[in-house]
This record gives sequence, structure tokens and C-alpha cells, in this order.
Amino acid sequence: MTPTSYFPHKNNQMFVENIAVSDIAKKVQTPFYCYSHTAIEASFQDYQNAFSNQDTLICYAVKANSNQAVLTTLSKLGSGADVVSMGEIQRAIMAGIPANKIVYSGVAKTEEEINYALSLGIFQFNVESEPELALISKVATALNKTAAIAFRINPNVCAQTHEKISTGKAENKFGVPISKARVAYKEAAALPGIKVQGVDVHIGSQLTNLTPFTEAYQHIAQLVVELREDGHDINVIDVGGGLGITYSDEIIPSKQTYAEMVHAQLGHLNCKIIIEPGRSLLGNAGILVSSVVFVKKGEEREFLIIDAGMNDLIRPSMYDAYHQIIAVDKASIDNNEEPLKTYDIVGPVCETGDTFAKARQVHDAEIGDLIAIMSSGAYGSVMSSTYNTRMLAPEVMVKGDEFAVVRTRPSYEDIIKQDITPDWL
Ligand code: LLP
Repeated sequence: MTPTSYFPHKNNQMFVENIAVSDIAKKVQTPFYCYSHTAIEASFQDYQNAFSNQDTLICYAVKANSNQAVLTTLSKLGSGADVVSMGEIQRAIMAGIPANKIVYSGVAKTEEEINYALSLGIFQFNVESEPELALISKVATALNKTAAIAFRINPNVCAQTHEKISTGKAENKFGVPISKARVAYKEAAALPGIKVQGVDVHIGSQLTNLTPFTEAYQHIAQLVVELREDGHDINVIDVGGGLGITYSDEIIPSKQTYAEMVHAQLGHLNCKIIIEPGRSLLGNAGILVSSVVFVKKGEEREFLIIDAGMNDLIRPSMYDAYHQIIAVDKASIDNNEEPLKTYDIVGPVCETGDTFAKARQVHDAEIGDLIAIMSSGAYGSVMSSTYNTRMLAPEVMVKGDEFAVVRTRPSYEDIIKQDITPDWL
């Protein structure tokens, strides 16, 4: 799936499913996020097909895009959820994802959160440390419940991705070092309220090459053999998420190729496989639509100042991430019919980092033109904020001829009324 697969140009207009993006913009106003229901469904089914000959539970990584309409779409297709907070558990449950399809990851689960997850009866806790395990045991014992656990193993493998989203090296805060795993499992087996059932690993996000996954899964396979020798009943392997998407021209291994590699590395162990994809389900199913507010000629560069900012999509400023930026109502850029110009594309926020692209070629633009920031379906809206007291961008989902606002734009009053001025001021 490329950034434009589900947002094609027809007669010089960008479409999402059967609706022109500009028609939505007229009704919703910019900036807004726009998701294709069909694209989400297609990527999920791709995973289902790829893993159809393995006993697999797909647990969508809710953090990538936690909109209730997105979760409901995936829930209806049979997805489980990988969650990292009590809020995400609530979202998953409210979208109809059953508790027994929820795996709970996250580095700092609190007593309250563990209590909540246990009372619901989730499928598995992915435990990040020995102190966390002790807390889970304490809470489970008090509730007279048993917590099914896997340790998240840190295999000390370089994911070859951006350092801020690389999680499987020894210096990263995540997981139990593989060298200490056997001791950790021995301790876990002896604790009350704990049932050891699996092993978990997640080495990072936006991986464009299978080699780091393969290396990590080889270590995990070896560990499962050792744990079984130690007497543990290991029957679940959670292989994490992390398969990348095409933002620019990256060539990503297909889900089928990924599934075959998982089978080659782990199939002989006869475990239930859990996968936790996030970005690869949602990334290219969404765009951020914005309008040109001003075209400004600087001394050295020309700026396209748009009405979306780093508060709406932080990926370019946080990770120097590349997103394609395309004029909505011009000829497809592939046609090369219209003149292109070089702009720095920037937002309205008062920071130099509020830059979406430097020296980028797009169509010659005028005030009011619509532009789309592609590949924004994952880690877009969920990472947005009201910085500069800007309203959160609404989210729209399109299915065939229909579209719906699936999160509304708040009013300034909604934002401001959350603050309280004490009487004594
Ligand atoms: N499982 C665990 C335990 C994770 O921490 C993550 C992502 C996933 C699964 C899903 O990974 P995915 O399939 O989406 O790569 N904000 C960053 C990405 C952070 C990823 C955090 N963990 C970005 O915008 O690139």
C-alpha cells in the first residue's frame, strides 16, 4: 500500500473512496484527519490472510490510532487489542473487543490499572520488569485471580530504525534482558496469582527490513526451548508490532513475507502467535487535510504556511519524519502536467520546529488551496495536542459514498473550561 493507494486523484481531484476530499473540507473545515474504512479493512485482512495457516491472534496496537470508529472497525473484523493504559483498555472494551483478546503492554502499569485489567479477565500481561511482576502477583492474590503473563524480553537487537522508536537494545528501558530471562521466569513461577504462559518481544517501529525481526525471533525461539527445559509451560509467543509502511519510497516486505518468516523462526514451537501491528494497519489509511493560509516569500526561501501545525501532527518535528505532501485539487503529481515549486511547508505554531517539509516540490500554491499530508493515519491524531490553544483537529471516516465525523472539533470554550481559576486569585 502506497501513501496514495486509497487517496487517488481523478480528474484533478483527490478522492477518498467515492468522495472528493474537497467536499469533506467544505463541510468540516480544515485541518482534519480523514480515514478510509476500506483501507483499514484491507490491511487487516492482509494480515489475516498472511497468518491464516498459523494459530494467530492479531492484537491491534491501539496507541497508533485509538478513535472509537477505528477500533470498532477492527473489532468487527475480529481484532484483539494491544493496550498500554487503562484508558486504552476502556477504549477497546467500548469498541466491542472482548477482554480475552486484550494483551496489556506498557512499562509502568499501576496498581489501579492492574486491578482493572485483572477484574476484566484480559488474555495476557506483557510484564516489563520483576517489580511489576511482584505488583501483579500482589493484586491478583488480593482479588483471588490468576494473571496470565509473558515477560517482554529485551533481546539486545538493533531494529535499524529511528533511535526514538527503537526498543530492543540493551540500553533501552524496555523489557527484561534476555540474559536474565530464565531467572525471571523461575521467580514468576514461584509467585502466587501468576500463571506463566508466554514470551513477548517488540524491538521497535517502522522496520523496513526483516533482518532485525529474524534475529530477535531466533533468540526468542532459543529462549522458549530453554524455558520449556526449565519446566515452564510456554504456549504463547507475542512477536510485537513494528512492520513499517511506505512514507516515501521505502520498499516494505509484504505481510505474507513477514508471516512466512515468523513461521520459519517460530512455527516448530507450536505456540499461539500474537502480533501487535499498529502503523502497518492505519498509517496509509489516513491523511491530514490542511489549507494554505499564506504564501510567503522569505529572503532565501518561499514558505507555504498551512493551517495544520506540529500540534496536529508532531512526527516531522519529533522524528524528522518524511510525509508526502500533495495538492488536493490539482493534477496528480505523477502526471507532471503543472509546474511544481519548491517550498518550505510550515505550520502556524510559534516554533521553528513547526515545519512539515523543507525544500519540498509541490504544485504552485495559492491562499486557500487544500493540501494533504499523506500517511498520517497512525501516530497522527493520537499524538496531537492543543499547544498554542489550538483546537484538536477533527477526524472523519469515509466508507464508500458515506462519511462521518468520528471525532468533533472541540470549541475554545471546551478547552479553556478545563482550567480552574481558584477563588483566592
Ligand atoms: N507493541 C508495542 C509494545 C509497542 O510499543 C508498539 C509501538 C507497537 C506494538 C506497535 O508498533 P507499530 O506496528 O505501530 O510499529 N510515535 C512513533 C511510533 C511509536 C511506536 C510505539 N510503540 C511514530 O510516530 O513513529
